[in-house]
Amino acid sequence: MKKGIDKILAKRSLQKEDIIVLLSTFSSDERFKVFAKANQVKKKYVGKKVALRGLIEYSNVCRKNCLYCGIRSENKDVHRYTIEKKDVLDASKYALDSGFGSIVLQSGELCTEKHSGIIGEMLEGIKSLSDDKIGITLSCGEQKKEVYQDWFDKGAHRYLLRIESSKRELFERIHPNNKSHSYDERIRCLRDLKSIGYQLGTGVMIGLPGQTIEDLADDLLFFKVIEVDMVGMGPYLEHSKTPMYNEKDNLLPLNQRFSLSLLMIAVLRIIMKDINIAASTALQAIDPCGREHGLFAGANVIMPNITPLKYREEYILYNNKPGVNETADNYLNRLEKNIEGIGEEILYGEWGDSKHFKPKNPHHLR
Ligand code: 5AD
Ligand code: SF4
Repeated sequence: MKKGIDKILAKRSLQKEDIIVLLSTFSSDERFKVFAKANQVKKKYVGKKVALRGLIEYSNVCRKNCLYCGIRSENKDVHRYTIEKKDVLDASKYALDSGFGSIVLQSGELCTEKHSGIIGEMLEGIKSLSDDKIGITLSCGEQKKEVYQDWFDKGAHRYLLRIESSKRELFERIHPNNKSHSYDERIRCLRDLKSIGYQLGTGVMIGLPGQTIEDLADDLLFFKVIEVDMVGMGPYLEHSKTPMYNEKDNLLPLNQRFSLSLLMIAVLRIIMKDINIAASTALQAIDPCGREHGLFAGANVIMPNITPLKYREEYILYNNKPGVNETADNYLNRLEKNIEGIGEEILYGEWGDSKHFKPKNPHHLR
């Protein structure tokens, strides 16, 4: 067994060198120790309840062209859709009735006034149909500060915007080299979201071509520096209709991307004890129980897909995206059984806010 794992896990705070050692634990016994420690930290600081967010993939229209993503604007094979407001409200009502305390409204990135206006109307509609009982997270990309403010005023209170990689050089390698894909702009957005008072979520992809363990350790430290409240991160999975597919032979094998993703979750839990960490759908693309493994490794949030089934096949960010035909009811039944074994249960009917978040604006206190 590698020397020092136990010693590192017993430390009060971890340095970058420690994080690198933990992320490099390749024997399954050692990994188990890291996961078990993270699970213990989770139980102590956030409890044993798994918070739910019903994910509505509202539109796959995107102005961006990220080199890894299946719905990038240059992929002409994708049939583009935008769900009618009424169907989004129905899905939100379904979430409410099924005991989801919270939903995530996700879309590709569009920056038109029409788009921001429609999102605003949907926020108001969801708030009113649920009598403010449903928490709303948005994940609609980079926007002007005024737009973020308007959405916040209309009831969104959490926002997810992944940095994808906190290393500027790697961010620039996986995005086209133009003004619409700017590292500085992404950072500007994260700052604006935080200053407005959103619970801030970000994340990275794990196992990108050219990414090192040191880069991943820096990603975890980046989350700490910007004081995020929520993190969603998962393995990078190639999509055959993207430019980055060319690099498919230079990737870690899938099983290693999977265990590295679990280690990232675990180490993050150890260093940021009270944040919300999602077990991403991409984990489930590699292993049918991937999200449950994520929970054991320290995640505490699951985002079951509640997008109406007829749209699901068009929101394919990477190959083998799971859940295209599975209803949320089915998925929840399975999840409930699976997590019993690790002593966890589902948190029904609550927003499930990040315990890390210190609200500035009391109307979002619950
Ligand atoms: N593999 C894994 N994750 C991906 N995403 C987009 N494309 C891929 C891919 N090929 C993730 C990005 C984005 C989120 C919506 O989906 O991190 O922020
Ligand atoms: Fe658009 Fe997001 Fe995909 Fe980039 S990752 S192309 S912004 S949907």
